[in-house]
Amino acid sequence: MDAIIVIDSDIQKCSCIKAVLEFVDYENIHMAGPDDWQNALVSPDKLKAVLITESVVKEAPQRVAALKEWAPQAPVILIRDTGGKARLGKDVSSKILASIGYPLKYQDLTSTLQQAEVYCATRGKAREGSHSPELFRSLVGNSRGIQQVRRMIDKVSDSDATVLILGESGTGKEVVARNIHYHSPRRNKPFVPLNCGAIPSELLESELFGHEKGAFTGAISARQGRFEMAEGGTLFLDEIGDMDMQMQVKLLRVLQERTFERVGSNKTMTANVRIIAATHRNLEKAIEDGSFREDLYYRLNVFPIEMPPLRERAEDIPLLIQEIIKRLQHENRGSVSLTQSAVMALSQHHWPGNVRELANVIERLVIMHPFGVVDMRDLPEKYQVDPGGEDAQVPDYTMIKIDDPEVARIPRNGIDLKEHLSNLECTLIKQALEDAEGVVAHAANRLHLRRTTLVEKLRKYGIQRADEVT
Ligand SMILES: Nc1ncnc2c1ncn2[C@@H]1O[C@H](COP(=O)(O)OP(=O)(O)O)[C@@H](O)[C@H]1O
Ligand SMILES: [Mg+2]
Repeated sequence: MDAIIVIDSDIQKCSCIKAVLEFVDYENIHMAGPDDWQNALVSPDKLKAVLITESVVKEAPQRVAALKEWAPQAPVILIRDTGGKARLGKDVSSKILASIGYPLKYQDLTSTLQQAEVYCATRGKAREGSHSPELFRSLVGNSRGIQQVRRMIDKVSDSDATVLILGESGTGKEVVARNIHYHSPRRNKPFVPLNCGAIPSELLESELFGHEKGAFTGAISARQGRFEMAEGGTLFLDEIGDMDMQMQVKLLRVLQERTFERVGSNKTMTANVRIIAATHRNLEKAIEDGSFREDLYYRLNVFPIEMPPLRERAEDIPLLIQEIIKRLQHENRGSVSLTQSAVMALSQHHWPGNVRELANVIERLVIMHPFGVVDMRDLPEKYQVDPGGEDAQVPDYTMIKIDDPEVARIPRNGIDLKEHLSNLECTLIKQALEDAEGVVAHAANRLHLRRTTLVEKLRKYGIQRADEVT
């Protein structure tokens, strides 16, 4: 995919545009008239961009559809007649990736062509379809906090122990619950989530335990509850802190006796269900306030896992951004790439809504800048940082950025390659050391380096080895 085709009725204008493209180092540029692009000596699947002028499109808007039919994978870029706006019908503009004014401006041209490249790269990946959809969302992150959580998941998955996951909203509590289930012997049985806070308390009992026909007004037929649905598997009781006291008693009984009855039935059923509960509330405080039962708390709190808020693991932010973009690409919802300064700004945000808020921001960027390159100043205002301000201290980890070579981009104002690479090296070494719990030989293994080479590098970067700490 390296060819570009320029379409206009005026051959003079075509060659003018071609000259500009060549001037900024693009090669393999073909020219064609309004209806003879099929005759151009280029195969449509080799095209990385089609540049078509506004006058050609206005003359016959159906040309764009025909063009898309001929080269469905190629991004179409409109060259407007002037610097102003082009007025085109909706079905035409939906087939156009971006437009640029004429005469061409260097900045616009390069960033638009970059956008086209990202578009092609993503399309290519979507077509390969080699990645099967993930059954559960993996727990991304390399921070100490997330590594600790991963170790806890490893420890508890094999058992049937009840797990209580605590942490602010959006930190990934459900991700953890799904991971535990997935790594447990129950993985081939259902994982059944229930948001206890979202269901009115009078309905919660029948939701959990099911009901018999006629058990209450409206119970026109018998129905299974979540406990039955989760038989053999895992029941995830989300927002358990929002459950009312009456239901808490009933839940406690199931946890103690492992039996329950459907509403309106006296037939006792046994439950072979693993319970994972989660809440963003402080349950100890709720006990003090009298809104949560202490005995239930102890039943649930067998194995607590605490999810750290995102602001305390800012070094995970670049990885999470990458993961979220991958997901959006996978779902064919588009893509973006972020410059380093954009990633840096996002790494400094406070994130009261945690990973969920981050995912929302990225989704918004994909909509606002489809396949575009997002710089710090393109971020919604509250995520921008003042480059002169005190917050401008850039921590090392922000240098990692999107490490997918196809997506990695040089920021508009250039990059100090040497510094970037040594920062990256330093970060990866620190990470390897952390993973290896300070054992240099193991860290060297992880980095495919000889031990002595790593020791040298540690000295060069002034990184302390665990065994040197006195
Ligand atoms: N460590 C993580 N890795 C990947 N995705 C995550 C991670 N943590 C959270 N997410 C994503 O963030 C969103 C919120 O996570 P969720 O588990 O629903 O949070 P909570 O239950 O704590 O409110 C989901 O889209 C989830 O996939
Ligand atoms: Mg949740």
